[in-house]
Amino acid sequence: MNILLIGSGGREHAIASALIKSKNVHLFALPGNPGIAKIAQIVPLNIKNHQDVSDFCAKNSIDLVVIGPEQPIADGLSDSLRSAGINVFAPSRLAAQLETSKLFAKQFMQKYDIPTARFCAFDKSQKQDALDYIRKGEFPVVIKADGLAAGKGVVVATNSDEAIQAIEEMFSGSFGSAGEKIVVEEFMQGEEASIFAITDANNFVTLAPAQDHKRILDGDKGKNTGGMGAYSPAPIVTSEVLDKVKSLIIEPTLKGMIAEGLPYIGCLYVGLMINNGNPKVVEYNCRFGDPETQAVLSVFDGDFAELLFSAAKGTLNASAIKNINQGFATCVVLASKGYPDKYEIGFEITGLDSISDNVIVYHAGTKEIDGKIFTNGGRVLGVTSLGATLKESRENAYKAVSKIHFQNIYFRNDIAAKGIKNSN
Ligand code: AMP
Ligand code: GLY
Repeated sequence: MNILLIGSGGREHAIASALIKSKNVHLFALPGNPGIAKIAQIVPLNIKNHQDVSDFCAKNSIDLVVIGPEQPIADGLSDSLRSAGINVFAPSRLAAQLETSKLFAKQFMQKYDIPTARFCAFDKSQKQDALDYIRKGEFPVVIKADGLAAGKGVVVATNSDEAIQAIEEMFSGSFGSAGEKIVVEEFMQGEEASIFAITDANNFVTLAPAQDHKRILDGDKGKNTGGMGAYSPAPIVTSEVLDKVKSLIIEPTLKGMIAEGLPYIGCLYVGLMINNGNPKVVEYNCRFGDPETQAVLSVFDGDFAELLFSAAKGTLNASAIKNINQGFATCVVLASKGYPDKYEIGFEITGLDSISDNVIVYHAGTKEIDGKIFTNGGRVLGVTSLGATLKESRENAYKAVSKIHFQNIYFRNDIAAKGIKNSN
């Protein structure tokens, strides 16, 4: 099977590693990264030029395109390729509004009675109403820019000054068109988890539940980031919780999308807040999560290429899965100091050769020059380790982390600690 994978992050390195475990897969990657380049053939094209990507697929008999990040989906790449008759594992641009418009997602959940936080929406012309609403409301309160803002468009305000500042900032244009509308949401108590549903629009299977660590500092403090680490399976998602997620969230979401005329094919990421065993939706994403995927696919056993191919064709083959949770995995993200704000790049990474067998180091923001690997982004590597228990996988991951060095390295020390507490 010839597969083209779109993207260049740690998530795509994990997807690439899972795909090539399937039989007879020839993998191409656009644009890829130095880690992916070891297992796939890099395609030197501009992702934004959909016609070029489509021509490449035709010329190279591509059976399946897997799109990793949200931006190419939001730009309509899946639609362009599908209209050229190519199988694509990713939703259409309009179905991806579940992620690309917080307002679309909230109104959709309200319409189909899917559990989520109460909310109110305001556009730029209603700034005064938004400020009045905040002044009368309770704290904390959550303020979200409607559009894609690379994880930076959400503020949990603990008092009215913070809330007012967030509203002023979003409407000031600092988020571009993403901030033209805002959603003000009730703050939900509980613990977060992420679940990926692989779907052909009608049927779905879930992969092992994961927990991300979104904040930059230990103890879930400091700024929100793209994700500083993850582990899977997450004990907070018991089989009772999972049953509720399937029947109260995933099934009505897929049925609702069909009713809206927007059948959803691909990975539906459900970000949950779980309180006393009751899950509510924090957010949807229209793709696999990063860094959750690095952990989730490490414990996956089965024919991943067949799973995604069957979903893309509209005939989901659940028997492609042998086991969704073989052991435990912990992924610790090694970042550049200063991330998620300003940081320096271009430092040589050493120690990658001394990593043991049960550890995979996924590349994210790296660059190869003359056989040496250098830092090239905010999130640089995802050090991912397996173990028979969560505790063991966590210890293995941090042991490997201690062997990797680069200037300005930063990582959290408490990845998976919460999960270990939950398992006791
Ligand atoms: P989002 O991009 O919508 O996932 O929001 C980013 C992060 O903000 C989430 O992972 C949560 O930690 C937090 N968050 C968002 N919405 C809420 C909410 N309604 N209640 C509590 N925390 C929230
Ligand atoms: N890890 C959160 C995300 O992928 O959006």
